[in-house]
Amino acid sequence: MEDSDDRYSLDMKTPSVKRLALFGATGSIGQQTLDVIEQQEGFQVVVLSAGTRAAELAELALKWRPERITLADEGGYGVLKDALSGISTSIDVGPDAAAEAAASVDYDICLNGLVGVAGLMPSYHALKRGIDLALANKESLVLAGEILNRIAAETGAKILPVDSEHCAIFQCLRGENIDEVARLILTASGGPFSTWEKERIKSATPAEALKHPTWRMGPKISIDSATLMNKGLEVIEAYHLFGVPPDKIDVRIHKASIVHSMIEFIDGSFKAQLGTPDMRHPIQYALNYPDRRVLKLKDDDPVDWLPLEFEMVDNDRFPCLELAFGVLESGGTAAAVLNGADEAAVKRFLDGEIRFGDIYTLINDALNKHENHAADDIETVLTADRWGREFVSKVKL
Ligand SMILES: NC(=O)c1ccc[n+]([C@@H]2O[C@H](COP(=O)([O-])OP(=O)(O)OC[C@H]3O[C@@H](n4cnc5c(N)ncnc54)[C@H](OP(=O)(O)O)[C@@H]3O)[C@@H](O)[C@H]2O)c1
Repeated sequence: MEDSDDRYSLDMKTPSVKRLALFGATGSIGQQTLDVIEQQEGFQVVVLSAGTRAAELAELALKWRPERITLADEGGYGVLKDALSGISTSIDVGPDAAAEAAASVDYDICLNGLVGVAGLMPSYHALKRGIDLALANKESLVLAGEILNRIAAETGAKILPVDSEHCAIFQCLRGENIDEVARLILTASGGPFSTWEKERIKSATPAEALKHPTWRMGPKISIDSATLMNKGLEVIEAYHLFGVPPDKIDVRIHKASIVHSMIEFIDGSFKAQLGTPDMRHPIQYALNYPDRRVLKLKDDDPVDWLPLEFEMVDNDRFPCLELAFGVLESGGTAAAVLNGADEAAVKRFLDGEIRFGDIYTLINDALNKHENHAADDIETVLTADRWGREFVSKVKL
């Protein structure tokens, strides 16, 4: 794209510096967040957090000089200490280190790109302190959507969706009245098995399941995309973000991932948000909200996107999506059980212990065996998640 292109020269604002706490810095969302703020000035990285990749985290710390870095894996402390001996960044390790940083470091915005249940407590602490949360970690809302919404309402913090579908709906809703929405339509790429027969899908290998056709993402979300459980988690996420009842949330397969999602209004009008699939768009939208700022990526033209095609979801080949709708109907601890069961099933599949088709079976069994009850506090939610995880981890197939 040419620098002389007028459309991209409108960024006259000089934003005040935002202190950014980035959780999941070594992951796909984390890396793309750092790509964005390399291009858009006005962010100071004050926290970088990771799970196990100590050497990569040290490299990032040397570049961005945050006030604190955290690593979940205590075994990585030595690597970090040696690499960062000459700089003032403080190092904290252990499973609670990210949550402690979220609860204590001074920052203006949190970008949560952690994967799984590990993301819940950083989300909780940011919102509790009244700090805006740019949320990629959909599991936070799946596990504790009602609790987090309640806290955000109390403190005035905003939850800004980073998931591309929810960012699309968030953008489409600007200036609209939620009571005039007839339905939200989340689009789904359909994953790598969208054209496969049911029996073939059941015995797909991890390598086949990890090959996502349009997005480059971490392993957990890639497998969830292949089962369509990712879309199920997104249905739950949309329910909490937009307060729309489950029967007003639909999913359509759109393999090209150009239409990121859409809304149908009560007068029959549709509004969609489109763009080449690139997570840097929703990331920067959340970081800069309510402003838009210049972001130079690929030079796009709508003629390259045609034809825009949509299909119905085949629930027989992809039964996980219906589990998520079922969980919304049940309420209580069911969503937390689904989350824990899914994480454990994906892990077992990637470790070669179970077949692809067993992922659905195990999650379904966990939900059927679980005694559902009210989920009013974080501890209850975490206990239910652990129950689902342990149930799936122990089943012998
Ligand atoms: N990637 C995408 O395009 C995309 C799109 C939409 C939504 N999302 C959502 O964004 C989240 C992140 O996805 P991703 O694709 O970026 O995943 P990813 O590439 O696997 O990255 C996950 C990050 O979380 C860290 N982590 C993992 N377990 C941890 C733990 N127990 N404690 C602390 N840190 C931990 C990892 O650290 P190490 O690598 O150092 O272990 C890594 O930095 C997920 O909720 C996903 O659903 C992702």
